[in-house]
Amino acid sequence: MTSPEQIQLENIADSDYEIFALLKQRYSPRTFKDVRVKKQHLNQLFEAVRWSPSSNNIQPWRFIYAERNSDAYQDILSCLSDFNKEWATNAPLLMLTAYYKKTQDDKDNFHALHDLGLAVGSMTTQAQYMGIAMHQMAGVDHEKAEKLFEVPEDYHITSAIALGYYGGELDKLSPELQEAELKERQRIDQSQFAFMDRWKNIRHDEN
Ligand SMILES: Cc1cc2nc3c(=O)[nH]c(=O)nc-3n(C[C@H](O)[C@H](O)[C@H](O)COP(=O)(O)O)c2cc1C
Repeated sequence: MTSPEQIQLENIADSDYEIFALLKQRYSPRTFKDVRVKKQHLNQLFEAVRWSPSSNNIQPWRFIYAERNSDAYQDILSCLSDFNKEWATNAPLLMLTAYYKKTQDDKDNFHALHDLGLAVGSMTTQAQYMGIAMHQMAGVDHEKAEKLFEVPEDYHITSAIALGYYGGELDKLSPELQEAELKERQRIDQSQFAFMDRWKNIRHDEN
């Protein structure tokens, strides 16, 4: 029941319509195989980012990544929320994501955050293809990270990502997190976000 293969199977999305297998299999685990991510694989992930679309081809995405046993890894870890610190050390690699805030003519780029998310989405699917799991985190102190990593003013640290090959021991997690890992995955119905012809007001607490 708790072997990595079974956990992965347990987490396959129970989709209402048939979707691409990589999308169906992807999930955000809190355990990872205790193996270093191959340099070649890392380059493939960043290549998937590189070929992502972006508004005006500005390519605003930036990443800082660090491997376990490095000072930078500890620095990223120190910026995570206490909840995320509890499990993120299971990941052999931690990343911070950031975006460039400006357009070519130095105006605010309203779509930069969109484009960073899109690029991370491409990275996630490429990762899934290679058996790599990504767990994204909003629980990161972006101001601390910006200072610690001397991020220039025109960039904004957005999130952190714990990354590694699928697998790992479930018993490395607290009982609460073990339970969360095996819980049925929930999604809102398409009717709650895809509106034909007119906007439909859905109260957010109805989700
Ligand atoms: C931008 C973003 C921020 C997230 N922040 C956190 C976080 O701080 N801590 C955490 O444990 N999970 C975090 N998650 C993971 C989500 O909880 C997860 O994607 C969601 O519950 C759906 O589960 P799934 O990815 O396994 O399908 C985040 C995901 C995204 C995309």
